[in-house]
Amino acid sequence: MLGIETSCDETAASVVTDDARILSNVIYSQLVQHAPHGGVVPEIAARAHLESVGRVVDEALKQAGVTWSDLSAVSATAGPGLIGGVMVGLMTGKAIAAHLDKPFLGINHLEGHALSPRLSHGVEFPYMLLLVSGGHTQILLVEDVGQYRLLGTTVDDAAGECFDKTAKLLSLPQPGGPHLEKLAGKCTDLASAIARFDLPRPLLGKKGCDFSFSGLKTAVREKLEALTTPDGTVKESDAVDLAAALQHAIAGHLSARLKKALESAPQKPKALVAAGGVAANGAVRAALEKLASEAGLPFMAPPSSLCTDNGAMIAWAGIEHFRRGRTDGMDVAARPRWPLDENRVKLST
Ligand code: KG4
Ligand code: ZN
Repeated sequence: MLGIETSCDETAASVVTDDARILSNVIYSQLVQHAPHGGVVPEIAARAHLESVGRVVDEALKQAGVTWSDLSAVSATAGPGLIGGVMVGLMTGKAIAAHLDKPFLGINHLEGHALSPRLSHGVEFPYMLLLVSGGHTQILLVEDVGQYRLLGTTVDDAAGECFDKTAKLLSLPQPGGPHLEKLAGKCTDLASAIARFDLPRPLLGKKGCDFSFSGLKTAVREKLEALTTPDGTVKESDAVDLAAALQHAIAGHLSARLKKALESAPQKPKALVAAGGVAANGAVRAALEKLASEAGLPFMAPPSSLCTDNGAMIAWAGIEHFRRGRTDGMDVAARPRWPLDENRVKLST
């Protein structure tokens, strides 16, 4: 299966076999194009996808050592995401499939993330999934392919945004999450950093499993303003402590809400799983691992290369659907919004 991903700022293509072997996973990042603008510019992203998608797909086949005729089918992200980019990948996938006369599948990007732990670890259904990326922070009970029960979501910003916006305030490059993690890694006394900044604990004691990150973001901005000297600089040791305290607060919030989801789940999951870019964060992983072991569940997270956006997860989601007999027509439309629990199983009351 060939998988193509172009929903944000990575042009990616991958060839994956039915038995979950990743033969290639080519990712071309547009970081350099977006860097001068301090964030992803949709128009620049669409043009960059258009310029590189052909090359990236060629490279994916070459690295996999397969020819066009070896492909069983073609999958491409059909949404949600920046619509110009989604259209580029979707049209490319359709054109390849039509030319080869092979089946085509339009994949939900979030479903790609949601099923990626089955590609990396063969996780069985049902599993509790924390989907944490730059645009989404959700808790889903993954019951089967196409059956996702949404238990919690963010009421404001996504966790990745909280990392990214704080990183921006600290003049770190974007996307900021990995840079903030690196800065926080320089902290030698986490306990005193936490005590020093005393960041809010969002939705503490509140019912449900939703998330909120805007309060943390505001608190960090205020603390940073207080630390900024009249000449506009912040001491590195202060930035390190603040980054560590924030990372700890985010990891704590994620695991506190996930704990509630585990307690209220309609059926006992077989594993706790994290996916999406933020799941690459070491402190987040450690907090979730602790939670899982307390709940007597195995914890799994795909390796970083499968956590951030990639074509392998799109190929894999395609395989999961294709195995169950689904294929799409050429009329599949690109969708800027596409909630994962759209066809959710209704809770009986
Ligand atoms: O899943 P993803 O690659 O793209 C989508 O948003 O769909 O996630 C990107 C997000 C960004 O906000 C980035 O800063 C964050 O994941 N991220 C991290 C780390 N690696 C990526 N956040 C914290 N720590 C990391 N190591
Ligand atoms: Zn993503």
